[in-house]
Amino acid sequence: MVDQIRHMCVGINQILEQIHGFSRRCLFRVISMGPLPIHLAFIMDGNRRYAKKQDLEDGSGHKAGFSALMSMLQYCYELGIKYVTVYAFSIDNFRRKPEEVRSLMDLMLEKIKSLLDKESIVHEYGIRVYFIGNLALLSDQVRAAAEEVMQATAENSRVGLLVCVAYNSTDEIVQAVKKSCVTKLDRDMETIQLVDIEENMQMSVAPDPDILIRSSGETRLSNFLLWQTGSSQLFSPDALWPEIGLRHLVWAILNFQKSHSYFEKKKKKQM
Ligand code: FPP
Ligand code: MG
Repeated sequence: MVDQIRHMCVGINQILEQIHGFSRRCLFRVISMGPLPIHLAFIMDGNRRYAKKQDLEDGSGHKAGFSALMSMLQYCYELGIKYVTVYAFSIDNFRRKPEEVRSLMDLMLEKIKSLLDKESIVHEYGIRVYFIGNLALLSDQVRAAAEEVMQATAENSRVGLLVCVAYNSTDEIVQAVKKSCVTKLDRDMETIQLVDIEENMQMSVAPDPDILIRSSGETRLSNFLLWQTGSSQLFSPDALWPEIGLRHLVWAILNFQKSHSYFEKKKKKQM
């Protein structure tokens, strides 16, 4: 009897999921009649506050944050967004308590490895994964896993996922300036131009983000994509990152569409 009830519940869940999936795809059809952003960036803030709010043990907030990220990626790629960038771990995050850094890095290692699983979202959507940041600051294990995923997905071209780890914007800019200097010196050329720095930015694999979403109601950029967000629309829903969902994404895109023609005209005037 218990088995039969369990079987029935599984069946009902599957039907509900299919209905949700169908209604979501209908909604996306309607939304994609308007202009769609090409690149969305996320600052996944509020994971520890979520754990506290839900009375969960330390670290559970970040695990829930990873699940929220997987759902968000699914929505973005279903909708036809080409690039998603996430701030997964900043250089400043290394200053957190050693136990917390260790547990975050363990989680990162486990989740990076899981991206290579056959049933992972990476295979489902043909995602090319980039890890952006000062990877030398990571442990050998985490760096090796990140490099393996980058290599394994290098031939994918449908959509891109840029995971910023051991990243901050000022570090990215300094590294790009250094590389530009080295190239100029090697080729005995003159002063550095804007284009040299842009070419050497790690984020140059994608166009600048159209929208930057920071969860948990915070409105700071926290040294994230400072070079690339000059024209991005900022959106900061009150939801903590693990609570972020479809409605927040839809709201951000509708706002983008509302002001799209204004921004396009402004860009053309600046040209
Ligand atoms: C900020 O929340 C979030 C982080 C420091 C890490 C987020 C990382 C994940 C969700 C896992 C990502 C993994 C991969 C492989 C992409 P917080 O710790 O600052 O929380 P608070 O604002 O409530 O203190
Ligand atoms: Mg935070």
